[in-house]
Amino acid sequence: MDVLKPQMLVANWKMNPQTVAAGKELVAALKKSVGKKGVVGELVIAPPFPFLGEIHKAIGKTARMYLCAQDVSAEKMGARTGEVSLSMLQDMGVSHVIVGHSERRAHGETDSDIEKKVALTLKAQVTTILCVGERERDSHGKYFGVVETQVRMALRGVQGSRLASLAIAYEPVWAISTAVPGAHAARPEDAHEMILFIRKVLTDLFGRANANKVRILYGGSVDQKNIESFVKRSSADGYLVGGASLRAQDFASIIKTVYAG
Ligand code: PGA
Repeated sequence: MDVLKPQMLVANWKMNPQTVAAGKELVAALKKSVGKKGVVGELVIAPPFPFLGEIHKAIGKTARMYLCAQDVSAEKMGARTGEVSLSMLQDMGVSHVIVGHSERRAHGETDSDIEKKVALTLKAQVTTILCVGERERDSHGKYFGVVETQVRMALRGVQGSRLASLAIAYEPVWAISTAVPGAHAARPEDAHEMILFIRKVLTDLFGRANANKVRILYGGSVDQKNIESFVKRSSADGYLVGGASLRAQDFASIIKTVYAG
């Protein structure tokens, strides 16, 4: 049996909204919907890099609301024009980092870049949200192998004792609303099957006790309409939400559903 973990809900704003003022409005709406006590679990906001400082201030001391970066450089410092180091992010109040999102993989990020980033962030005890997921599903189940390879490559060289800071987001690329026009979410049962499979891969690598520390999330077209079925049937420890996290009312209703049970 998996250990029940507090739910982690991640709002991945991607390259939105276009002004920091609009970002601050979104945070204000979120704070209103979670109230003073905050949520039971982690509510994680991932704005674009230039907004981090202001969004950090906007979050303020809201209980269990955290600031997340959408990426990090694999290098600690130096000649990397356009990149942002982990120390810089931590200095801005970042406690969580997304690594290996499919939109970054599509722009050339390799398994070895991802491996370095994961090692760096886990060593610094920054909560690392590693994204994995197949581009397409075939009828022979080869997509399980694709996801297994992504998990194994990303975690090469990681010690089991560091896994408490790791979350893995299973995001089948074909289900990401903002990437594939007309995309639809995976069926909660299929997400459940993959979550069990990822847990098994982690158990093979690190043993059951360490594997159970990892939170496994689902992402891809999660919205206010389907969230209830995911909560009931997917066994995910949380969700990574793109498009719907930019719509304050819809995200508020996702929050309510995830933290209600
Ligand atoms: P989506 O994006 O919720 O818009 O499908 C999820 C993601 O890419 O993280």
